[in-house]
Amino acid sequence: MTIVDQQTSTREIETPPESDWEPRIVAFICSWCSYTGADLAGTAGAQYPPNVRLIRVPCAGRLDLLFVLESLQRGIDGVLVVGCPPDHCHYGEGNLLAQRRFRLLKGLLEHVGVEPGRLHFSWVGASEGPKFARVASEVVESVRSLGPSRTLVRGMYAASRSALVE
Ligand code: FES
Repeated sequence: MTIVDQQTSTREIETPPESDWEPRIVAFICSWCSYTGADLAGTAGAQYPPNVRLIRVPCAGRLDLLFVLESLQRGIDGVLVVGCPPDHCHYGEGNLLAQRRFRLLKGLLEHVGVEPGRLHFSWVGASEGPKFARVASEVVESVRSLGPSRTLVRGMYAASRSALVE
């Protein structure tokens, strides 16, 4: 499966056989404080599951929510958005805008059958490596408890997309 990130580069994600299912999580993470925090988790040896693929964005407020939809449509089981803590966004209030938009999207997706437990938002600061590891682990367990993402989501998204194109 291919995911296009904000820089339009592509990444290949293997689709495992059903029997070997493990939750696949995409984390859109702000390059400033939050990515530094995630990096600190790694260098500090704070363990978190390898199920989480990080995609850096210049600011959480810069995240195009279509990437969240695209991730779900392509079979990703859960999405995490991570921004700098309140008052630490390098662009003013991008983090707060991102949180508001994400809440709206989450509510809309719940109406079409996407379980809220697949969509998570968190703040992680530059010195919060252990927090990032904890959040990542919690998200993986939340999605694991829901099972694989449903084909319903993929079908609905494909249908709505083709309706827009026609
Ligand atoms: Fe990190 Fe805006 S710069 S959320």
